[in-house]
Order: sequence, then C-alpha cells, then structure tokens
Amino acid sequence: MTDEQKPNQDAEQEHDMTLTTRQGHPVRDNQNVRTVGSRGPTTLENYQFLEKITHFDRERIPERVVHARGAGAHGVFTAYGTAGDEPVSKYTRAKLFQEEGKETPVFVRFSSVIHGGHSPETLRDPRGFATKFYTEDGNWDLVGNNLKVFFIRDPLKFPDMVHAFKPDPLTNVQSMERFFDFVSLSPEATHMVTFLFSPWGIPANYRQMQGSGVNTYKWVNTEGEGVLVKYHWEPLKQGIKNLKQKEANEIQSTNFNHATLDLYEAIERGDYPEWELCVQIMEDGEHPELDFDPLDDTKLWPPEQFPFLPVGKMTLNRNPEDYFTEVEQAAFGTGVLVDGLDFSDDKMLQGRTFSYSDTQRHRVGANYLQLPINAPKTHVATNQSGGQMQFKVDRAPGQNPHVNYEPSSMGGLKEAPKPGKDHEPEYHAKLVRAPIDRPNNFGQAGDTYRSFEDWERDELIDNLVGALSTCKSDIQERMIDYFTQADADYGRRVSEGLVSAKSEESADGQANPHKAVEQSQEKGREAG
Ligand code: HEM
Repeated sequence: MTDEQKPNQDAEQEHDMTLTTRQGHPVRDNQNVRTVGSRGPTTLENYQFLEKITHFDRERIPERVVHARGAGAHGVFTAYGTAGDEPVSKYTRAKLFQEEGKETPVFVRFSSVIHGGHSPETLRDPRGFATKFYTEDGNWDLVGNNLKVFFIRDPLKFPDMVHAFKPDPLTNVQSMERFFDFVSLSPEATHMVTFLFSPWGIPANYRQMQGSGVNTYKWVNTEGEGVLVKYHWEPLKQGIKNLKQKEANEIQSTNFNHATLDLYEAIERGDYPEWELCVQIMEDGEHPELDFDPLDDTKLWPPEQFPFLPVGKMTLNRNPEDYFTEVEQAAFGTGVLVDGLDFSDDKMLQGRTFSYSDTQRHRVGANYLQLPINAPKTHVATNQSGGQMQFKVDRAPGQNPHVNYEPSSMGGLKEAPKPGKDHEPEYHAKLVRAPIDRPNNFGQAGDTYRSFEDWERDELIDNLVGALSTCKSDIQERMIDYFTQADADYGRRVSEGLVSAKSEESADGQANPHKAVEQSQEKGREAG
C-alpha cells in the first residue's frame, strides 16, 4: 500500500458501518439463526450466534457492594496556587496545586449508597462524590460523600453497618428497625443520623450538593513537614438544594432517574456545574485542647477555628461516551494519592484504603488499572504482568523486554529520585484494640440540630418519627436518649412525635403495612 492510498482507506474505514463479529467477520444475516430447514432445529456451529449470546450472558459485572447506583462526568480542575492567603507550597508539594491556572483532567462519579444499580435517586441516603484527578504524577482519587461526617469511626464496624442498612436478608426489603437497631447501639452515629434524616439526606440532584473527603488526610511540603487536612467541595453557580420528603416522593412517583438526567442534560446544554475545592488545615498532632479527636470522622472541624481555604475549582464539561465503559468500570480508592498528599492515622481511612482496591480486583478484575478510565494519563512502567484481561505490558520505551524485575544491570526499570524529604512520623505506643479518647458522641449532633433552620428541624423530626414508629420500643428509647443528650428539645420532640404517632395509629385502627415483616422479625428474635 502506498502512503497516498492509506488516508483514503482510513477514511473509508471510518465510514464503514458494516456490522461485524468481534473477530472482524462481516455479519450477513442478523435476523435468523442457522437452522436445519426454516423451522429448526438450530445448529451448534453457529459461531456468530454463540458469540452474540454468550457475550450477552456476561454483560453484567458484580455491582459495587455499596454505592451501586451512580452517574459520572469528565471535567477539569484548575488550581489557584494558594490556600487562602498563603502559597499552597507552604503546606503541600503536590504538583497539581502549585501554579495558578494549572489544569488537571478529572472524572467524577456521584452515587447513592445502599440500594442497587437501578434504585430511585430520590431515596434518603448519603450521596457519593468520588473524583479521579489524572495528574502529571499519576492519579489521585478523592473518594468522598456529600455529608461531611460519617456513621462510624472504626472500619471493623463497616460490614455490619452496611448489612443493617441494606435490605433484610430474608425479605429483601430495607427495614428501619434493622437500621435503628444498629444505630441505637452505635451512639457515634447520632451526628450523621441528624444530618441524614434532615433535608440534607436528600440532595435535590448531584449538581446542587456539596462534597467532602470526610476522613482526615495529610499534606506534606518539600521539607517533609506534615499537616492534617480535610477536603470539601462547595458548589459554585448552581448552589445547594435539598428536598423535603414530600417533594422527593412527588419526583419519585414519575421519575426515579432524575439526578442522572439532571447532570447529563445540564452538561449537554453547556450549563457546566462547578465546585470550589476548599481545605481545612490543622497542625499535625492530637490537639488535647479540642473536645474531639481530629481523626474522628463523626466530627466537623469548626470552620471558625479551621477556616475553609479555597485551593482550586472544578468544572464538569463532558458526558461519558458509554456508561458501562467509563462509569460502571471506574474504580476509585482512598489509597490513590500523589506525592505531597499522605495518609493520617485516621483508622477509617486506613480500613477503607485496603477495601477499595481489594473489591475492584474482584469486581472489575486484576487488570482494572489498565482500563482507559482508570489508567493514569502519564508514564506507567511496572514489572507487573499477567492476570485476566491484560491487553498490554506496562513497559517503558527502551526497556529491555527480557528484564521484568528490579534491580537489574541489564536495562530494566529504575527507582525514581526522591521529590523531597520524607514525612516520617514517630510512634511510641502499645498495640491495642481500644476506642479513641474524647468520643463526645452527642455534642456536635446538638450543635448541628440547633444550626438547622426551623423547616429543616421540622422535617428532621417528622422523618425520624416516621422511621422510628416502625421500631420496637427499646430501640425508640435508646434513640430518644441519644437525641436528648444531643439537645433536650430534640429528644423531647422525637419522643412526643412517637407518642402522637402511636395514638393516631390506634385511633385509625389502620393495619400496619409492615406487620407481616415485624412478625417474622419477632419470630427470628424468639428463635435467636
Ligand atoms: C464505595 C468500602 C467508608 C465513600 C465503596 C466500595 C467499598 C467501600 C468496598 C465499593 C468500591 C467499588 O466497588 O469500586 C468502604 C469501607 C469504609 C467506607 C470499608 C469504611 C471503613 C466510606 C466513607 C465514605 C465512602 C467514610 C465517604 C467519605 C465511598 C464512595 C464510593 C464508595 C463515594 C463509591 C465510589 C465510586 O463512585 O465508585 N466503599 N467505604 N466510603 N465509598 Fe466507601
């Protein structure tokens, strides 16, 4: 083939709409299987049919064990070069933040947590806000939620928490009794529950919500000095909007995909959502002067003491070309950091860091990092090879293909130079199983309750009374006790609400729709 011929042929191929098999064979009949006579039987050597149907049989991968329902978009992060009034380099040497105007491509996946892949997007649930930054130093994932705190502070409790919140293993229906059974024996969840049952538990859509890294990380500068850091995404022009339960019910009655559609359509019409990334910074250490531990993810860092410092802005401006390829196969994890960003000793963060890549090797496969959505957009050269679905070797140009080990004197890969002084925290402590000091389970829950506007508090009480009405009385009592410890008015209102809900129920003589499930749970308790 001459060079003059080639472009024409490429152009022809570009416009070739012929259907083929994955082996590249043109498909000449896509309507009829091959049969003996027009009425069958079918033959087994029908490769085209077998390829089509067996691929179809494998179209699904396991859905995420949590955060199964989601929507994603591509965009760009633009750094400010500063953290508030200071040059950002005072705190971190991470390259993506250093220069004003520096752009880093990003991919974001928003999600809801508890229910499956096609569940309604109107449910009361935290929302996931996971961002992959494709930086020049490799990828950084910031895997956060819309709410700034979490239910638990020890990763050992996570599988139990998720089991209690997910549908009952027998009925396959979510039960508020199981939810509050767990929560009423986990007092540290009171703060998160106060947010979740308020309108903040149903963001109007994905564009009009905040995001937060929730866990405490570290930033490290060129001197190797570390500070504690928390990350927050603040929506810019689109603002923040949450829904009352009634509004959510109305949307859900006609549309259970409203948040996915809202994001997709906004980007299609050029109305690109934007968030500012802010950090809160605290000197590294235990901070005995605070009434909470800075590594406790059930706590907010008071913004008056630890102000929000803007460090950059993110714009989402491109929809995925294919949902499965980009959104379903996207894999985010808290272990994915770049130089200048580090882990703190936050136990939850460390537990999470093991879990994400572990589940992704199972959910997507051992080579999930070779997929374009997950692969860094920079130099990748490893000596890892093999496993299902490997489609290339991570070889550096010029690398001796015989050398897949390090160290080697025969043209293999070499260690990188150190970018700055290592951050080397020292530890002198016993190895123990112990809760943190200063649990302070109720103080901030009370502050949050008092910070709400009247309508938000009214919604919170209504939603809690509705959910707790389906629970047995000792669960109700424990929850009322927690709410009272947070704020006397909070506890009193939930308690009074439950009393009047009970008297209304007996006055109506209405059949409780959950009765059969309750009876079955009662039997289960007796059996146990
Ligand atoms: C997803 C584990 C706490 C935010 C997941 C997944 C696992 C997991 C296994 C599925 C990942 C996948 O299939 O790709 C854990 C564990 C936790 C924990 C063990 C506690 C010990 C949290 C917290 C947050 C959070 C505190 C919020 C800051 C998310 C988000 C996703 C997710 C946003 C979805 C990521 C995506 O869009 O693909 N988590 N998680 N998780 N988790 Fe967690």
